[in-house]
Amino acid sequence: MTVCEYRAGLEGIPATQSSISFVDGQRGILEYRGIPIEELAQKSNFVETSHLLIWGKLPTKEELENFEQEIRLHRRLKYRIRDMMKCFPEGGHPMDALQACAAALGLFYSRRALDDPAYINAAVIRLLAKIPTMVAAFQLMRKGNDPVQPRDDLGYSANFLYMLNEKEPDPFAAQILDVCLMLHAEHTINASTFSAMVTASTLTDPYAVVASAVGTLAGPLHGGANEEVISMLEEIGSVENVRPYVEQCIEKKSKIMGFGHRVYKVKDPRAIILQDLAEQLFEKYGVDQFYDVAVELERVVHEKMGHKGIYANVDYYSGLVYRKLGIPTDLFTPVFAVSRIAGWLAHWKEQLNENRIFRPTQIYTGTHAAPYIPMSER
Ligand code: CMC
Repeated sequence: MTVCEYRAGLEGIPATQSSISFVDGQRGILEYRGIPIEELAQKSNFVETSHLLIWGKLPTKEELENFEQEIRLHRRLKYRIRDMMKCFPEGGHPMDALQACAAALGLFYSRRALDDPAYINAAVIRLLAKIPTMVAAFQLMRKGNDPVQPRDDLGYSANFLYMLNEKEPDPFAAQILDVCLMLHAEHTINASTFSAMVTASTLTDPYAVVASAVGTLAGPLHGGANEEVISMLEEIGSVENVRPYVEQCIEKKSKIMGFGHRVYKVKDPRAIILQDLAEQLFEKYGVDQFYDVAVELERVVHEKMGHKGIYANVDYYSGLVYRKLGIPTDLFTPVFAVSRIAGWLAHWKEQLNENRIFRPTQIYTGTHAAPYIPMSER
């Protein structure tokens, strides 16, 4: 069967059947396995939410303890991965470093037994455990420091902040990061998840699946937008400059970062929670100098573009939250990856359950039977 209607960006075209997450872009609803994101953000934590996404159900107390314990046990990196990272240029983007490290795991765990539940479980644990360590190790190594070893007595997010900043975080900060990780963990068939699914459908190893997803997440239209939001707020600089900035963008037809979404036509429910988290952080640690600019920009964009369904998306306030947590701007997208790994793994597993290799078609727009022109005549 060939579907002849071409839709740029596959907009509105179902690419799979999935029970992992649900988005209603008109009503601003996001659910993981049927549970509203607001409820998870209040009551769950990132490790439990990962279990829910990947294994399809909330864990019992014992299952959660085992899951957490297994992740703790696998946080360390092989010294050869650390040695490899030493050869990376310090000026390289951390997403490129992460992609290389994720792919390199496949060299160490090369047995590919996709029909073996133990293999699947080990890959899930390893990836959830090691991706944060990789991000933190690159951050320290590019500053010329040795990476710090993960701390077994700290939870997932607290340990990640500890490895990044070389000091034990305030539990409040760790809790805020944990909620951020839950919010970013999964979002139906977004570009990086689709990339993971296409790669998974070839039955390659899970490390290649994650490496391809990391590469896709890195782009400024996807995960990279949170970095761009901060540069944009810095460029705008003050509340008075907001309106002229928006008017100029409209005139030049340029995108305002952190706004718009293929699916949401209202404010992204994650942006609502993230704005609240930002405000909690500002109350405790002092307000960000660009928060006023951000609020005014959101107001003016809604006024001018709300009729087109352009509202703040998940990337709009996440940067301000991460900045307050002391995370450098170019690590915002790697932090997104630390979280989205849960969704990628859930889709990898789901893809394997009913796999058929992705092989869409195309509408050919070229010529036929064209002559080969000799070099001298071109
Ligand atoms: N600023 C100004 N205009 C916009 C924006 C924006 N941020 N987003 C969409 N539009 C306009 C766009 O110019 C177009 O207008 P017109 O119909 O007059 O030509 C219309 O809205 C539709 O835009 P589109 O680019 O065709 O929509 P899309 O569904 O292909 O793209 C998007 C969605 C997220 C790529 C886009 O909104 C965008 O580039 N936003 C800025 C980057 C960003 O914040 N990305 C993060 C996305 S959410 C998290 C994630 O996926 O990682």
